[in-house]
Amino acid sequence: MNYPSKRLGQIPPYLFAEINKKKAAMIENGVDVIDLGIGDPDLPTPSHIVEKLVEELQNPANFNYPNFIGCLSYRQSIADFYLRHYGVELDPETEVLALIGSKEGIAHLVPALIDPGDTVLIPDPSYPVYRMATLLANGNYYDMPLLKENNFEPDFRLIPQDVIDRSKLMFLNYPGNPTSATVDIDFFKDAVTFSKEHSIPIAHDSAYNMVTYSEYKAPSILQVEGSKEVAIEFGSFSKTYNMTGWRIGYVVGNKEIIKALSILKSNTDTGQFTPIQKAAAFALDSDQSCIKTHNRIYEERMAVVLEGLASIGIDVEAPKGSFFVWAPVPEGFTSTEFVTNVLEKTGVILTPGNAFGPSGEGYFRISLSVPNERLFEAITRIKESL
Ligand code: MLT
Repeated sequence: MNYPSKRLGQIPPYLFAEINKKKAAMIENGVDVIDLGIGDPDLPTPSHIVEKLVEELQNPANFNYPNFIGCLSYRQSIADFYLRHYGVELDPETEVLALIGSKEGIAHLVPALIDPGDTVLIPDPSYPVYRMATLLANGNYYDMPLLKENNFEPDFRLIPQDVIDRSKLMFLNYPGNPTSATVDIDFFKDAVTFSKEHSIPIAHDSAYNMVTYSEYKAPSILQVEGSKEVAIEFGSFSKTYNMTGWRIGYVVGNKEIIKALSILKSNTDTGQFTPIQKAAAFALDSDQSCIKTHNRIYEERMAVVLEGLASIGIDVEAPKGSFFVWAPVPEGFTSTEFVTNVLEKTGVILTPGNAFGPSGEGYFRISLSVPNERLFEAITRIKESL
């Protein structure tokens, strides 16, 4: 037998699937595991959204194959959200596409836009799917280092000309995973200028767009004038409305790119179950106060963790967005050594920074996906382990 394919052979198992396996084994051995690994909210989906799903489940008209590009009311709700929240006009027919979670759309976008041997510009560190989708499409990725001294923004001037010449796509992601960095609209203006100058389309992953603190409002890349000529933006219900398991997202922006992705998708999947799309549309159309409530909880958790880390000599500036803490490992450890040491001695799951790309070495990520008491407990255990 000769499998897996060489292509798949280059790809490690999915980071969080591996972590889940370790977690299951530890729980089986009686360890009281505190999982600060994956960004999977512990808070429930708001009840009005669940009730809408239940209502839509009673309607047999929703049981057929869904519309390939998503039901019109779903796409319209997304267009309405963009107008209301960002002042960006979208044509729901051509500039909005439903996704089975933004991860699916990101993974399918790469083969829709690149040929074997083409290059994709990838933030380093970043969500592992950008990198793996590129390898699966027989492409090459170029890591754009995100450094603290540069607000975890890529410096486009440092990308070599020959890499630029081969590049067919660039990923960006703010509020950032894992760095939790946020940007203002000027950064997106520079990115769009770079993209137009070199004909490299931009895919902006805005999965954490609504997870923000204090007065900060995360911009959309589509707020940049003329950005629709080159950019698309991925969005998700996972983190905004605690709907990770529902698998529902969208992509908006440049209609040619969206068309290419919809052709690929209609040949490989048949869309998300219509009741889920309708409940997600309802999430956008109804009262948004749940978002503030969730963000207040994350902000409190953030304060607990930052204070706890400071007490062990790890100083991190309070982020304005995302529910991740991106922290330097204590001196004398690599990322993997630190995270492994903490896991083995304390049962606390952290994510090593290098799992998100080489520039993540020297960092670890904490996901604020457990209540304050468990965060206190986790910090206490980490402190004792050092
Ligand atoms: C993360 O924790 O980075 C994401 O939630 C993982 C994922 O989407 O699989």
